[in-house]
Amino acid sequence: MRKRIVAGNWKMNCDLSETDYLLSRLMEQKLNPEVEVIVTPPFPNLYTAFNLLKNAPIDVAAQNMHQEANGAYTGEVSATMLKSVGVETVILGHSERRAYFGEDNALLAQKVSTALSQEMRTIFCFGEELQERKEGRHFDVVKEQLQEGLFHISNDDWKQVVLAYEPVWAIGTGETASPEQAQEMHQFIRETIAEAYSQDIANEVSILYGGSVKPNNASEIFGKPDVDGGLIGGASLKADDFAAIVNAF
Ligand code: PGA
Repeated sequence: MRKRIVAGNWKMNCDLSETDYLLSRLMEQKLNPEVEVIVTPPFPNLYTAFNLLKNAPIDVAAQNMHQEANGAYTGEVSATMLKSVGVETVILGHSERRAYFGEDNALLAQKVSTALSQEMRTIFCFGEELQERKEGRHFDVVKEQLQEGLFHISNDDWKQVVLAYEPVWAIGTGETASPEQAQEMHQFIRETIAEAYSQDIANEVSILYGGSVKPNNASEIFGKPDVDGGLIGGASLKADDFAAIVNAF
């Protein structure tokens, strides 16, 4: 049985007191115990979040990390630093990292290797842009992102990987992929993994959908057989909305 996961991608939101407030409100919510719930406060607040959530059924993940272990990389944060404050999961390859910070598939492949070698679970994000979908290239683009950024990992590494398909045109736009579009792509992703690795690995990996998931559309999207949860941006910043999405399964 694949794990169901709802992860909140907080992006560059919430200072320390706002983090404290949001997490406190979230801890008051009734959350479906069958769903793994993850929050991702910005770097300065990860340690606080980890301590606050120690006894809560909510995991803390980071939004990014550097590919090197340490050294002269001003402004960057390493996997070991994250682990030292209790963080054992990291989001890699979010479309905003790709678009605004020049992260390409080759760089992401290095980040994935570093994360896995440090036993950090990786939520690997990918997805096509609007133009690519319009031109009917969305399957090819997604396949290439997987092949170049992720498919160097071993069979065993897949236990530490979660996928997040996020069509760029649906992120922060209020425009969601239809449940059918999400299912079609998730099925394709699973088939692609089965071809490159094995059917068992493809069956076991959780594939999240991301892009304008809200309380009013989550259950329809999560109802699709190959959708195992969501990566939630805007709606993860309100405890009520995020809880409603967690409970939408
Ligand atoms: P959104 O963001 O839910 O605000 O569209 C999703 C994401 O960027 O992960």
